[in-house]
Amino acid sequence: MSMKLSKEFSKPFYTDAEYEALVPEAKKALETVKENYAKGVSPLGWYTLPSDYDKEEFARIKECAAKIRKMCDVFVVIGIGGSYLGARAAIEFLQGNFHNNLRKDGPEIYFAGTSVDGDYLADLLKICEGKDICINVISKSGTTTEPAIAFRVFRELVETKYGKEEAKKRIFVTTDKNVKPGTLKEFATEGGYESFVVPGNIGGRYSVLTAVGLLPIAVSGADIDAMMAGALEAKEEFDNFDLEKNICMEYALLRNVFYRKGKKFEMYASYTPAMELMGEWLKQLYGESEGKDGKGIFPVSAIYSRDLHSLGQYVQEGERTMFETVLEITAPKVDFAIPTAETDMDGLGYLEGRNMDFVNKNAFRGTALAHQDGGVPTIVLALEKADEKNFGYMVYFFELACAISGYILQVDPFNQPGVEAYKKNMFRLLGKPGYTN
Ligand code: PA5
Repeated sequence: MSMKLSKEFSKPFYTDAEYEALVPEAKKALETVKENYAKGVSPLGWYTLPSDYDKEEFARIKECAAKIRKMCDVFVVIGIGGSYLGARAAIEFLQGNFHNNLRKDGPEIYFAGTSVDGDYLADLLKICEGKDICINVISKSGTTTEPAIAFRVFRELVETKYGKEEAKKRIFVTTDKNVKPGTLKEFATEGGYESFVVPGNIGGRYSVLTAVGLLPIAVSGADIDAMMAGALEAKEEFDNFDLEKNICMEYALLRNVFYRKGKKFEMYASYTPAMELMGEWLKQLYGESEGKDGKGIFPVSAIYSRDLHSLGQYVQEGERTMFETVLEITAPKVDFAIPTAETDMDGLGYLEGRNMDFVNKNAFRGTALAHQDGGVPTIVLALEKADEKNFGYMVYFFELACAISGYILQVDPFNQPGVEAYKKNMFRLLGKPGYTN
């Protein structure tokens, strides 16, 4: 078991009866996942992905990543939402916040197409000046505006710099395999770019363990075999209706216990800054999956202790409508010792001989106790260390928990009809043909 769930700071907030009342619903929700997968009625391809992925494409991802690592100084990943968050979360989780400065070999990796801000694109273009570039454009639908604009900009850059023929070797496309007019797939086929597939039965926010996430992650030098092995471990562990042995189902259940008791916000907190993008990935996964039909827990995220100096006041004393899920890394990569000093002017003498992790773990315990006193329950999910296997495990854990939780809430965890509303207005305001009324 790579992850442990602790209820030490959440148990005081519910009764056994409240917990037991949800057990049949949680089991039924897991049953629904299995049934809907078997019937093929929902995009549940991710459910069996760890054991049932396209091995030929997987090998091609690794070959292609090795090629890209040699061919360029800068690798630009273009995508939005589920088409970028997982890859970025993985790279930062594994290689830290300064991965681009510290990577020993392989290119710097940047993300584009996540906004329509020209300044961001202009800055990224400056970074690319004088450097060898490869790009990976990722869009399941193949029609999303933000990545389409960024792709147009970077395609032009690559074609101008290398010429059309050489550019073909530097542009990689990840999209749905159905060639429909006006989509990225049609573009890739026409352009002769190497393409990877987003499986039809896997939605964007559940796609990090497909080519969507795996190509950029492999380009970072990470071991994607280990990642899939971690996901497989999770899949096997959570195929279990015994709550004592299934922390995934238990996590989904606990969230709903709190939701029914008026806790409408879930704060994903971590004491490890490299988990920041993991928080963003979780917000998308849970926000898009559950926030519909007037229901859903609103996911927020924070990095502590940094955000204890900003959001901490609200968490401690604001509206009592929040619970927290802390993602703890049990063993840090480096045992960083607090330096000794000649004088004790900074008052840190009592910590000499201790390491940073000792301080961090006590910051966490002190905070969890304070939040408990302030009426905020904390679920603790502790992962032994930040490696590829654990990343795969954690991704599968949260994807399955999200599906179970969505079914307990009685929403469809796989659609996102609300995302269309802003697009319609934006297209009308921009004068896109077909949207002018
Ligand atoms: O989870 C989802 O389906 C969405 O958030 C998508 O990932 C996001 O909208 C990007 O879509 P696409 O990959 O089609 O460009």
